[in-house]
Amino acid sequence: MPEPILAARGLVVELGGRRGLFRRAPAVRAVDGVDLAVASGETFGIVGESGCGKTTLARALLGLQREAAGEIVLEGRTVSGHHPLAARRMRAAVQYVHQDPGAALDPWWRVGRTLAEGLAIHGVTDRAEQEARIAETLAAVGLDAAMAQRYPHELSGGQQRRIGLARILLLRPKVVILDEPTAGLDLSVQAAVLRLLRELRARFGLTYVFISHDLSVVRRVCDRVAVMYLGRIVEEGSAATLFREPRHPYTRALLAAAPHLDGRDTGPSLPGDPPSLRAVPHGCRFHPRCSMAIPLCAAQDPAPEPAAPGHTVACHRWRDAPTEHRDAA
Ligand SMILES: Nc1ncnc2c1ncn2[C@@H]1O[C@H](COP(=O)(O)OP(=O)(O)OP(=O)(O)O)[C@@H](O)[C@H]1O
Ligand code: SF4
Ligand SMILES: [Mg+2]
Repeated sequence: MPEPILAARGLVVELGGRRGLFRRAPAVRAVDGVDLAVASGETFGIVGESGCGKTTLARALLGLQREAAGEIVLEGRTVSGHHPLAARRMRAAVQYVHQDPGAALDPWWRVGRTLAEGLAIHGVTDRAEQEARIAETLAAVGLDAAMAQRYPHELSGGQQRRIGLARILLLRPKVVILDEPTAGLDLSVQAAVLRLLRELRARFGLTYVFISHDLSVVRRVCDRVAVMYLGRIVEEGSAATLFREPRHPYTRALLAAAPHLDGRDTGPSLPGDPPSLRAVPHGCRFHPRCSMAIPLCAAQDPAPEPAAPGHTVACHRWRDAPTEHRDAA
């Protein structure tokens, strides 16, 4: 793989730890030793159940959440180990499209004002230049310039997502983290947003980190995919390999539970209770829910191993996983 544009090594992010005079709430490790490398120009997917740490990982990559350990490298430069304000400045080339697009917009401001404010923060204060860049960017995301006069509540879900994209494109990012970019959209709007994302990637030379619950979307748009479970990446590989020959029992369960495109609504739900960061199991974190677990699994945490070139799996029994070709999502 060529030099990654964005990489993390041994990344740990702790949340919620609070020291008081009389009590100390223990922190939870929402990201617990993540290694990843995103190649320039690719769409890198991150999937996993709700609460597994996807958004926290994104916030750490952005510099909004300080890492407790590990390193983040952007374009060959170490950018971790800084106070969030400095970290965010160093990582301006990485921008984030919010999981809830409405939440990123001020409800009392016309869209144009929000967009102009973003430009002003980044040093573009000339009114005429602001207006020209906003009109050009609205056109790039397929919106009329008149949209700048609207308030957020006057926008549809699809329009809000386009405005969310315009907001960050104005800042000329290299890497864009898209958090659930198609959640809650009708299929036709979803398809239009995905088409737009593809066009923008080519036109502006962008690299995407694509976080999604929707495996059918991930399969269609991502080049590579990482599967997260309780703050860890348990399997990573090309989208083609991962969907055809998943090796980790969790990935297999996730694919089996995904809504299918063949008309079936959902598959069997994932076994066992949803995991909690407050009680991370010993050994392999997935062992209480895993149909392939053996005594070793409860005793020893499996390290990631290469199953094939570019395909990594953290499971003691990945070699025993049946290798029938799947076509789940
Ligand atoms: N301030 C906090 N203190 C303690 N725990 C937190 C805090 N914020 C988030 N968490 C926990 O951290 C975990 C990771 O949350 P995160 O939002 O990263 O998950 P996610 O994978 O993005 O989920 P979703 O798919 O629902 O968006 C969750 O279990 C959440 O409950
Ligand atoms: S290490 Fe064991 S428990 Fe964990 S996924 Fe593999 S077989 Fe299942
Ligand atoms: Mg999230």
